[in-house]
Amino acid sequence: MNPPIRFLHELSRALAASSLYGPQHPARYKAINTCYEALRALQVEDEEPSFSFLGRDVVYGYDAIRELQDWEWSDRFATIGVQRIEVTADVSPDEFAIFIEDVHARLIATPNGGIGATGANGDAAGRGPLQSENLSRQTAIRFGPIGIQGATTGGGSVEPAMIDVPVSLDEESEAIRYIHSQVASDEAVPLVEAEAVVRSLSGALHSDGQMLIPLLKLKSFDQYTTTHSINVSVLSMALAEALGNNPRDVRIMGVAGLLHDLGKVRVPPEILSKPGSLSPEERELLERHPSDGARIILNSDRRLTLPAAVAFEHHIMINGGGYPRRHFARDCHYASTVVHVCDVYDALHTDRPYRAAWPSAKALHYIERRAEREFDPVVAGAFIALMRKNERGLES
Ligand SMILES: [Fe+2]
Ligand SMILES: [Fe+2]
Repeated sequence: MNPPIRFLHELSRALAASSLYGPQHPARYKAINTCYEALRALQVEDEEPSFSFLGRDVVYGYDAIRELQDWEWSDRFATIGVQRIEVTADVSPDEFAIFIEDVHARLIATPNGGIGATGANGDAAGRGPLQSENLSRQTAIRFGPIGIQGATTGGGSVEPAMIDVPVSLDEESEAIRYIHSQVASDEAVPLVEAEAVVRSLSGALHSDGQMLIPLLKLKSFDQYTTTHSINVSVLSMALAEALGNNPRDVRIMGVAGLLHDLGKVRVPPEILSKPGSLSPEERELLERHPSDGARIILNSDRRLTLPAAVAFEHHIMINGGGYPRRHFARDCHYASTVVHVCDVYDALHTDRPYRAAWPSAKALHYIERRAEREFDPVVAGAFIALMRKNERGLES
């Protein structure tokens, strides 16, 4: 068994032993010690190992561990808000024991965490802070949600003004086409270009000192993914700002919105533009795009854990429906709920080969009706308020 897989197996054993035996029991002590040794053995070849748990995938560093696809503990870790574990230096045995204790405490405190259920504790939904220094009280071994700083109260300071303005965003569209072509030919995600597009869209959003939401109109069906990526990025930033996120987190949401459908580069174009309903086989191919997208993003840059989580989760509904299906019900990351609403709105508000674009009011009504079932009600409510305010701005 290779060292990262061995470490994860020993980790699951140590956590299981922690729930079976009391704190002083030798079996518990032994399991923790064996896991600690497995970590030290891993650190001989990789001083700073990191793991991300994305539903059915476990990602070690840049790569998904094929042997651990569908590993039940991956979903379990994500469920308790441990979507990422980073080891950044030598860990002492005491530090390691505290780490196990902390993760175990989350397991027993989280419904569906897999071991026990004694009420909620902490924030397992990824609403906690992103900064790794805040991931946990440890310094050498850190764990927690893949995340951003949670929404704060107070809302954005910039008033929205208009939507559907006739804008071209030609350079941004060109950059997105370049990003998709690079990814389609198995190159890494050109992150510099992606960040440049987001900076530029953020500027377009704030021209004239007020929030202007420049949504692109689809010119031809084969441009859908480009247009849609830009619109979802812009909408996600506007919504994140309206929810009170700080500028840095707003931009991270912009990157996540821009890259959320990247996995579609692996879906045959004839499926993406099929006018009729999809066969079960075609649907299966289409529904791979979230996990493909997450893998492409993480393989490109391990720092992009948040956009990868959003790519993976953006079709998962708040009631657990949607896809990819998961072994345990759990909340999606806060950023995924933001991008999800924006994604559905833009898809409904755009002409598709199988139906005409819905008017904005009809799309908003759809979102309103499906809040609590499909969408996070707070996020959906903020989105509807933001867009209706825009519409009123347009009328006045
Ligand atoms: Fe999608
Ligand atoms: Fe999408």
